[in-house]
Amino acid sequence: MDIQKEVGHKKAEILQKQKEYLFPNHLLYYTDPLPLDRGEGLKVWDVEGNEYLDFFAGILTTSVGHNRPEVTQRVREQTEKLIHSSTLYPNETHVNLAERMAQMAPGKLQVSYFTTSGTDANETAIFLAQAYTGQQEVVALRHGYSGRSAMTMGLTGVGSWRVGGTHVAGIKHALNPYCYRCPLKLKYPSCGVACAEDIEDVIRTTTSGKIAAFIMEPIQGVGGFITAPDEYIKRAYEIAKHYGGLFISDEVQTGFGRTGEKWFGIEHSGVEPDIMTMAKGIANGFPLGNTMTRKDIAESTLKAGLTISTFGGNPVACAASLGVMEVLENEATPDRSAFLGQQLRAGLDRLQEKYSVIGDVRGKGLMQGLELVKDLSSKEPAPKAASALMDAAKQEGLLIGKGGLYGNVMRIAPALTATEEDIHMALDLLDKALAKID
Ligand SMILES: Cc1ncc(COP(=O)(O)O)c(C=O)c1O
Repeated sequence: MDIQKEVGHKKAEILQKQKEYLFPNHLLYYTDPLPLDRGEGLKVWDVEGNEYLDFFAGILTTSVGHNRPEVTQRVREQTEKLIHSSTLYPNETHVNLAERMAQMAPGKLQVSYFTTSGTDANETAIFLAQAYTGQQEVVALRHGYSGRSAMTMGLTGVGSWRVGGTHVAGIKHALNPYCYRCPLKLKYPSCGVACAEDIEDVIRTTTSGKIAAFIMEPIQGVGGFITAPDEYIKRAYEIAKHYGGLFISDEVQTGFGRTGEKWFGIEHSGVEPDIMTMAKGIANGFPLGNTMTRKDIAESTLKAGLTISTFGGNPVACAASLGVMEVLENEATPDRSAFLGQQLRAGLDRLQEKYSVIGDVRGKGLMQGLELVKDLSSKEPAPKAASALMDAAKQEGLLIGKGGLYGNVMRIAPALTATEEDIHMALDLLDKALAKID
């Protein structure tokens, strides 16, 4: 069999097995799904040998790029030493990573509980807030995404991700600061972030008046990179505190310098959260979630009882994460992400001037979104154009993501180790892809 036939066969075989042996409800990107084979830095190759510039980083997860030696070397060494211990036995990589996290996290957030996903991290956060406050009810935001367990789907404010219609009692959703489509039909900044007052209204009208927690993402990732103004976050914090709740910042997408200048997205606002959750970029693709809080809050878990996690704090995942932190600190710092983010943003702003399908450009640092619309004045969402742009970008050799309630927001978020050249190359490829769908 010649090589071309062989690779074509391999792709067909993967897609056939996917269909035959995996649940059919896996969302797959692209009209023609893309089986990836290997990666190096910001490049990935599919099983047919086609090369792509990866500007979605496996949903903002390969934070320091594919096959990064600082990560793979540590992983290799740890794999040969000890792959698993469970949380029943203290482990060096586990405690060293916890120490590293305490050095990076803002203020009094000093202690960690490691798990294996963002879902798990948010479950831990809500449990923690309930244990500390003795209250049960939680306020989340519309357009937010918290995970795929029953409880975190309940927290989620995007209908299509509340699969099966979840019924976890005591979760309420307030208006989010979606400035491009203001739920109150006002204009930022003259609105004075009036939407934040809805949090209070929701608490007073739909809860007992005492909440365990308020949870939000500083930039709503799955929701379409909806970027909360700092004043909104400050007001949300005040309201949460007034009604006895802890403030949880979900940093699963915005953590580890992604938003530029700071290690965590919430820090731009000056608010110090009571709890932070993180996952994705923490370990470059190894399954690791973390919930961080203050010592006094963590102490409250003892009232509820002791707990274990079989895979939480896995030595190999923690070793990978220590490698990630080394690269972030030495090379891909938040300041660098801010600098590269400015270049990316400037290029996207130029594309907005050129293509009327781009209604809004938003985000921070290396987390930038393009909201596509059918018409600039009506702002009617253009999900078909978004799907077409995904396919066209892939044809040009560029991987980007898609999201938003209407499926019309392009999500652009490369590894934080991107170079200026990568940014310019991505903008060039995106320009060509946009020209194709124009
Ligand atoms: C903000 C946010 N929180 C939580 C999660 C859930 O993380 P995981 O898919 O690792 O369970 C996600 C996943 O996309 C997310 O974007």
